[in-house]
Amino acid sequence: MLDVRSLFLALALSAACAATSPSPDGLAAKVTSAPPAGPTLYQRLGGRDVIDAFVATMVANVGRDPRIQLRFVFTDLDGLRGHLSEQICEATGGPCKYSGKAMKPLHAGMHVQNADFDAMAEDLVAALNAHGIGAAEQKELLAALGTMRPDIVEAPPP
Ligand code: HEM
Repeated sequence: MLDVRSLFLALALSAACAATSPSPDGLAAKVTSAPPAGPTLYQRLGGRDVIDAFVATMVANVGRDPRIQLRFVFTDLDGLRGHLSEQICEATGGPCKYSGKAMKPLHAGMHVQNADFDAMAEDLVAALNAHGIGAAEQKELLAALGTMRPDIVEAPPP
């Protein structure tokens, strides 16, 4: 049984709902508050353990990729794995802070070309597929890493 106070509250609520219903001309009412934020890409990827796992597969793929493997012959691959994983964790909204070198000075002088970058992206996609990462998450991750391309790729030699 509704008491007067609850009835008043119910009426006030229905008036508020009517005010936010689509207007007669069919346009939706103005949204006054932002929708609650959804899970971060980091969460949708499955968190740090999943990132660690697909980065390990990616680095193994890079080491077997005849297009770019020679670039990494003198690299400490464990260090690369750790820093890449940390970087992806941070870039996707996870609770990490990348502690490696900045992309531009790190890759300066390596003469990395777009084809090298694309080869590495393919090695990443193969790893993401192997770990069952969904298409939407893959696209978002590639877009996030794609923003680093200008700091990594250098103009081809004249
Ligand atoms: C989205 C693309 C890329 C990202 C996010 C990335 C990121 C990184 C990171 C985090 C490190 C380790 C930094 C450190 O330990 O302080 C690294 C090292 C390195 N990267 Fe990249 N990288 C990318 C593309 C490339 C490409 C396309 C190449 C060449 C094919 C390349 C060549 C290297 C090499 C050779 C090292 C090791 C440097 C060393 O041994 O000191 N990177 N990269």
